[in-house]
Amino acid sequence: MDDKRFIANKALIEDDGDVSLRPTTFDEYIGQDKVKANLKVYVAASKARGEALDHVLLYGPPGLGKTTLAHIIASELGVEIKVTSGPGIERAANLASLLTNMQERDVLFLDEIHRLNHSIEEVLYPAMEDFALDISTGKGAGATSIRLNLNKFTLIGATTRAGMLTGPLRDRFGVICRLEPYSSDDLVRIVKRSAKLLKIAIDDDAARELASRSRGTPRIANRLLKRVRDFAEVYNDGVISLAITRKALADMEIDPLGLDYNDMKLLGALVKKFDGGPTGLDTLAAAINEDAGTIEDVIEPYLIQLGFIARTSRGRVALKAAYRHLNVAPTKKASEQLSFLTDDNKDE
Ligand SMILES: Nc1ncnc2c1ncn2[C@@H]1O[C@H](COP(=O)(O)OP(=O)(O)OP(=O)(O)O)[C@@H](O)[C@H]1O
Ligand SMILES: [Mg+2]
Repeated sequence: MDDKRFIANKALIEDDGDVSLRPTTFDEYIGQDKVKANLKVYVAASKARGEALDHVLLYGPPGLGKTTLAHIIASELGVEIKVTSGPGIERAANLASLLTNMQERDVLFLDEIHRLNHSIEEVLYPAMEDFALDISTGKGAGATSIRLNLNKFTLIGATTRAGMLTGPLRDRFGVICRLEPYSSDDLVRIVKRSAKLLKIAIDDDAARELASRSRGTPRIANRLLKRVRDFAEVYNDGVISLAITRKALADMEIDPLGLDYNDMKLLGALVKKFDGGPTGLDTLAAAINEDAGTIEDVIEPYLIQLGFIARTSRGRVALKAAYRHLNVAPTKKASEQLSFLTDDNKDE
């Protein structure tokens, strides 16, 4: 069978024109220190034993570097990587063919693993656990099943929605890594690294400004860098100064914290419509006419990192910083809740 149809071309799944910005070694990969340190140990140990690395699940919001990390792991292991995605595998036979073609210790990168069809997912269970495929032949009473052994490979799954993975699938990953939004310092380093690769001159304070408006996300930092470069070329001989950065970001309607229209819509609803919450995810989603999954994966992580909102057992709540940013005074009820929340935090 022809593998190539459902193994996405590597270039296609990378950000447009971004290929050269992608770090290719652990040392080039900035930030995520804990995740990186642990992965380095697991990679070194499995190499020393000459065994396949345990299966790895990478999860976290879009643009934080899951795909990048998967490629780095394979290259640091010194093995081949095959790339596919949940929605890209239409039939169990496609997955079976991929798996039978894996060489010993190779990596299979399965992006958007939460979108894998359930019947196809079942093929993965024995493949991950016993490195075997169960193939049934015949129908009805005469049906038999034969077991086909596979080379020992490493599955790297990536998802923005770890919560949508079934228990049995999640349990079969030996290593589970959660990527967090990046600190401003890390993003400064990422912006400077990208600028150097793209041969762009950027001032330190401009790099810091870009970093702080990138929602904790390297992909956004790189995108903003490229757009600001356009402004700099037109207005400033190509040099990215703080002034030109501020002008460009203002013209692109990106607020001082990098919040965009959707972030502000969510904050506005939580603070004004729901009096600071607690508000259930689905209620909030309906109120701002946004998909609950998008709120959870794309909008909330950065607002949580900023300390603007918190997830509690009773729903989402707005925190003091959100009121300050919106320049809204909390109502009496909201104030009481805020002092309670702060006391709560003190207990921890
Ligand atoms: N740690 C990092 N250091 C430097 N650059 C990074 C880092 N992580 C990501 N990037 C840059 O950000 C871009 C986006 O990363 P990547 O495509 O790996 O994200 P992702 O988590 O797979 O996103 P998605 O969920 O949308 O697939 C990359 O092209 C790379 O240039
Ligand atoms: Mg990706």
